Amino acid sequence: DDALSSALSALSAGEPILVHDFDDREGETDVVYPAGAVEPADVARLRNDAGGLVCVALSHEVSEELGLPFLDGVIDHPTAADHELAYDDRSSFSLPVNHRDTFTGITDEDRALTITELSAAAERVPDGDYGADDFAAEFRSPGHVNLLRGAPNLLSDRQGHTELGLALAAEADLPAAVVVCEMLDDESGTALSPAAALDYANRHDLVYVEGMDVVERLA
Ligand code: 5RP
Ligand code: ZN
Ligand code: CA
Ligand code: ZN
Repeated sequence: DDALSSALSALSAGEPILVHDFDDREGETDVVYPAGAVEPADVARLRNDAGGLVCVALSHEVSEELGLPFLDGVIDHPTAADHELAYDDRSSFSLPVNHRDTFTGITDEDRALTITELSAAAERVPDGDYGADDFAAEFRSPGHVNLLRGAPNLLSDRQGHTELGLALAAEADLPAAVVVCEMLDDESGTALSPAAALDYANRHDLVYVEGMDVVERLA
């Protein structure tokens, strides 16, 4: 079985996978979960073992239907006027949100609730019975789960973890809502090296996949 098939099987089973983008892009490995499968213990894994920012990527279609903007388009401050990045044309950040049934929003239980309900919302959008008003009735912003917006044509448009995760979810017929969180090295604070990420994958029996393998198969 090749890495891509194994990655799709793992996601379908609700298990996390590790996705390294490209050495000439961020050079980061993200832990990627189908959002619908995230429990409090998974949020604990993300903050303890990954250590980056916990985000939920939503597809372009879902984001459009829910009226979710790119953050740089709605921040009314000069910091957002020039958002040049060294590794890509633009960021995929949208709003940070909490589910309204959370308290502070940051605990493992709160973030797991926000994340699973985001998946449930994304799942309802294509049926046409869930829109921006429904979303606002259920979620508030600011919050503690960072939303990301996928590019319209996914990997043909942009090859970030946002699109890598969403393309894998689409291929696995899962809702267009995936959690991504960067793996950082506890000692150095830098991005975890691909070799160390692969070692983590082996020790925890997880699938590790290269962005190039995803692009070759799904772009
Ligand atoms: C948000 C990020 C991460 O890199 C995440 O992987 C999503 O971004 P991208 O699609 O640019 O890779 O910056 O924590
Ligand atoms: Zn990033
Ligand atoms: Ca740690
Ligand atoms: Zn990334």
